[in-house]
Amino acid sequence: MSSERRSNEDMIGRADIDDIDAILAITNTDVDEIVHAVEANSEAIFTWDYERTRAALSKLYEKAKTSQWNANDLPWDTPVNQVDVVEANRLQNEAIFRGFDLTGTPVESWGEDEWMRHSIESQNWTLSQFLHGEQGALICTAQIVETVPWIDAKYYAATQVVDEARHVEVFARYLDTKLSGHYPINAHLKMLLDEIIADSRWDMTYLGMQIMVEGLALAAFGFIHQMTTEPLLKQLLRYVMSDEARHVAFGVISLQEFYSQLSTAEIRERQEFAFEAAVRMRDRFLQQEVWERLGVDVREMIEVNLNAPDRPIFQAMLFSKIVPNCKKLGLLDAADGWLRDRFTELGVIQFEDWVDTSEEYTTLDEVARDRASAA
Ligand SMILES: [Fe+2]
Ligand SMILES: [Fe+2]
Repeated sequence: MSSERRSNEDMIGRADIDDIDAILAITNTDVDEIVHAVEANSEAIFTWDYERTRAALSKLYEKAKTSQWNANDLPWDTPVNQVDVVEANRLQNEAIFRGFDLTGTPVESWGEDEWMRHSIESQNWTLSQFLHGEQGALICTAQIVETVPWIDAKYYAATQVVDEARHVEVFARYLDTKLSGHYPINAHLKMLLDEIIADSRWDMTYLGMQIMVEGLALAAFGFIHQMTTEPLLKQLLRYVMSDEARHVAFGVISLQEFYSQLSTAEIRERQEFAFEAAVRMRDRFLQQEVWERLGVDVREMIEVNLNAPDRPIFQAMLFSKIVPNCKKLGLLDAADGWLRDRFTELGVIQFEDWVDTSEEYTTLDEVARDRASAA
């Protein structure tokens, strides 16, 4: 790998981050496919060193073993009226567009009915993407079991595989029994997951999944958990978050050790990968498939979204875990603060001093709290 500086074009396929035509050129071309194969280029690594030398990973592993929960124990008999739920959740959906002059846009004439339909589709879309992302986590973490050379990390990753199976299970069940439709995987999310899986370097799996994708998921779940009034979804998200906090901690703890021995050029490659992942995730939240399904001009609506006054607050919030974790890993300031500059351009640098996620799992463990209060 050369340490030559790569351009935006090289890293994300376009010079301008907000180039709408380039964003929309990435589409899911095979929405009817049932299986999707990705070539993994990594080696499966045995280690004969069974010594338990990594105390922080050991602690995490012990915690994971006692914090398992059963998806069947969630209150699935809770009746869910999606119209009532999204009514109460307006904040998450079209509120981003409210208080903004929509004259001349495709939604100019929208009334309550159209916005309600948008809110419902937006919820179906959001939960569908969580579902697909969870399967990505399942596959990436199974890959880490194979590729990471440390026994303590293999042990821990094995518990995460079980966690992710449970997450896929609960989101699939919620979508099937409580909501009103599925969406195929968003093209930007798919592209990112494919790249993470295809990368031969085991630490890149961690950076792409545990730090970037799961860091964003933890923030997004937290936001929806706080906002939703639907008790089943609230508990489901709270339990998933108890697990996700450990997963992100797994990434931070493992990469802290590994990065300490990398060269500047190698760190720079990690910075570029973090930037690319951030852009893909920003693009995915533009929800292009929702506008398509609603039959309005996608390009125009993405343009409205990119210029909406409240959008930066909502989308920036999604990065509130990623940025402090990247800082803790030394990725913000290495190579003359290259990633700091990129995160500044994306409008998310303000989170750099928020709490990082290496210890948060001890306070987010709702499962342990519920067990203690039941005992
Ligand atoms: Fe998960
Ligand atoms: Fe996870």
